[in-house]
Amino acid sequence: MRLGEQEIRLDESFTGDPHPLLRRLRVEHPVRRAVTARGVPVWLVTRYADARALLADSRLSKDHRIAGDLFTKYVTATGGTAGSFTQALAAHMLNSDPPDHTRLRRLVNKAFTARTVARLRPRIEEITGELLDAMAGRDTVDLLASFAFPLPITVICELLGVPGDRHDDFQQWSNVLVSSATADPVEWASLAMSEYLAGLVAAKRAEPTEDLLSDLVHASDEGDRLSPTELVSMAFLLLVAGHETTVNLIGNAVLALLRHPEQLAALRADPGLMPNAVEEFLRYESPVNIATLRFTTEPVPVGEVTIPPGEFVMISLLSANRDTTRFPGPDRLDVTRQPGGHLAFGHGIHYCVGAPLARLEAEIALTRLLARFPDLALAAEPETLRWRDSTLVRGLATLPVRPGEAA
Ligand code: HEM
Repeated sequence: MRLGEQEIRLDESFTGDPHPLLRRLRVEHPVRRAVTARGVPVWLVTRYADARALLADSRLSKDHRIAGDLFTKYVTATGGTAGSFTQALAAHMLNSDPPDHTRLRRLVNKAFTARTVARLRPRIEEITGELLDAMAGRDTVDLLASFAFPLPITVICELLGVPGDRHDDFQQWSNVLVSSATADPVEWASLAMSEYLAGLVAAKRAEPTEDLLSDLVHASDEGDRLSPTELVSMAFLLLVAGHETTVNLIGNAVLALLRHPEQLAALRADPGLMPNAVEEFLRYESPVNIATLRFTTEPVPVGEVTIPPGEFVMISLLSANRDTTRFPGPDRLDVTRQPGGHLAFGHGIHYCVGAPLARLEAEIALTRLLARFPDLALAAEPETLRWRDSTLVRGLATLPVRPGEAA
């Protein structure tokens, strides 16, 4: 049966196993009206060529101030409330167009270049080693809670200068922010997060330390490069983007390997394949399903469809990276494939600023995990694993594994 005029709703029926629907959409309706779990009408884009072109198209805006009005219109029209909760955290580069985007991104670019990030290698290896030590000797562990989550959150908190005692709160807040389908918990989590970050900024101002947040506070106090709201929003973006995604890269990669023993064997036989394999994991089960919202500022023709002005556009990176016209045999995991050009980190001016850090963390985490636990195995039937209830990110809720004897 063709999808025809059927409503495409991006709710839990989509988040559990989105691939079959995405495959059909790429063939039948590559640019298609859909409705988010919160009832907001959007255009869903699923083909690689369209996705890549639209990610770099300046007729699509990300300016939260304009989008804010639109969002209010949409949400109230669908019976919801669109509180001011997002505003305190929304003034960041991923919600900005040039020239604001250029100014904000320039302030942190240097902290995330491949060369700067390479200096973090020893510390990332140390944290990885400690987490693996804690797994040794245990019968079953949730690999996400014990390993894939604490590694990136510790790294980004240390880099920014966020004390380690609130990691659990962060996990809870940001989980609500990326997963919740209703406004109330989001409002609560945003408030908690912005209050905490405002306090932290005040502390860094009173007593600067050697970290990125202190540098940003200094840049903000120096002049007009960063307003107080932009400062808190920047910290928020880096914290959330810095771990919500990398945890899924590591989790999705481990699941993919445990489901493809011949690929796991190839990687164990030649650990030098790991940097290439990380690119393939990014392509095969992209940690960010849908790029953050964009909206049209004028009519935008895409293939046979013209998206009218003032409409939200959702670009599925997960789908684009399985497009058979760009990646032959896209549903096959192949750690020797050259998946260059995948869109897992986006494309254009908003291309992920943290990509070098994410790649380094994943490479170290996966290499060390496989070396330490030669008999690592799934501790649940793959079909019973639960995926997170989020349209935006693609990641498991838990990943039970049996580490086996430590090497
Ligand atoms: C932007 C993915 C890790 C910080 C993006 C975008 C994607 C992405 C797809 C573009 C979104 C869009 O255009 O709508 C990922 C993935 C990661 C990852 C898959 C891990 C596997 C990180 C890390 C950081 C980070 C570790 C840490 C600092 C950012 C920031 C932006 C961004 C600040 C906004 C850039 C801009 O607007 O110019 N990321 N990310 N990301 N990412 Fe990442």
